[in-house]
Amino acid sequence: MARKGGLPEKGHDDHLPHMPDERFCRHANQPRNIGVIPEADGKATGVGVCGDSIDICLSIQNHVIGGIGQIPHGCIYTVACGSAVSQLVYGKHLEDALKVTPGDVAEELGGLPEDHMHCASLAVNTLGEAIDDYYRKEWGNSGKQEL
Ligand code: FES
Repeated sequence: MARKGGLPEKGHDDHLPHMPDERFCRHANQPRNIGVIPEADGKATGVGVCGDSIDICLSIQNHVIGGIGQIPHGCIYTVACGSAVSQLVYGKHLEDALKVTPGDVAEELGGLPEDHMHCASLAVNTLGEAIDDYYRKEWGNSGKQEL
């Protein structure tokens, strides 16, 4: 039965939709770094537990991310998280980029609902796989750095 006054009945608060921060809206409506880098130094396609995916490709100079392209395939949270992670790591040394966490992505977006934290994990994990792809190419698939 419809209620007057607009407020949900007690006990229904947990079904309220996510009230996005303006930072989330900016990333979701105008996602950063959409695209593909031809002849990327590292690239990966990550697939989340829900089937959403993100393609990430990197241009790397002197172990610094000088270019990043990302294409999200999925919900608006996946779009925002792909955008946020691309902005967070652009211009960073690989060691620092690998320290970015799903929590950092959520913070960049002004918060994420708990049931969409896996979108932030998808973005971070895909970035890690793209960096791993770069290292594998650099080190000739040995998995070990030659000192
Ligand atoms: Fe699953 Fe976004 S809803 S990764």
